[in-house]
Amino acid sequence: MTPEVASLETERLCRLAPVIPVLVIEDAALARPLAKALVKGGLPVLEVTLRTPAALDAIAEMAQVDGGVVGAGTLLSPEDVRAARAAGARFGVTPGTTDRLLDAAEAEDLPTLPGAATASEALRLYERGYSVQKFFPAEANGGVPALKAIGAPIPQVRFCPTGGVSPSNAESYLALANVLCVGGSWVVPADKLAAGDWDGIAALARSAAALPRT
Ligand code: 3PG
Repeated sequence: MTPEVASLETERLCRLAPVIPVLVIEDAALARPLAKALVKGGLPVLEVTLRTPAALDAIAEMAQVDGGVVGAGTLLSPEDVRAARAAGARFGVTPGTTDRLLDAAEAEDLPTLPGAATASEALRLYERGYSVQKFFPAEANGGVPALKAIGAPIPQVRFCPTGGVSPSNAESYLALANVLCVGGSWVVPADKLAAGDWDGIAALARSAAALPRT
């Protein structure tokens, strides 16, 4: 898959909902009901971070849920890319980007949101053909003013900012011309997940899905 084709797909996914929940799953048995609650709440695109031993099994479970599109986050190596693909991930997300990671994502046909934190990183990815990127870590990098400033000289690149995005600042990010959607973990608080509070999670998803986008 070329970077250009990958970017068309990641743009399509980013337009499906204003928020991509970033999920840390310790118990794969919770994955399927969690995905159902999020999809029911209006958030079909789900990022499972490869930070727990259960993550790949969780992806495989979530891939069975109708109406959902599950991807793998925290891709750090070509091996992660291959494992994510094999588990059924339909997209990938990286916190930062290396050529080895992109080579693997392209070889595996895994449309990937590559992470960028600076104008130089964004421009380098754009040169390779990636016009849709993850801005990470968004708040620590200067947040909305920084992303707006990057958009002035490089409006061709659109972002999914992630890292410190919350209900209090999500709307400000979504109002930027170079933001397609945001990513964040607030939609699935650990206590609600552990308690199996699917109604509570669906309610948080509904609020996130209702955030206005320009
Ligand atoms: C991550 O990769 O951890 C995401 O950026 C989530 O960040 P958050 O927990 O601040 O939403």
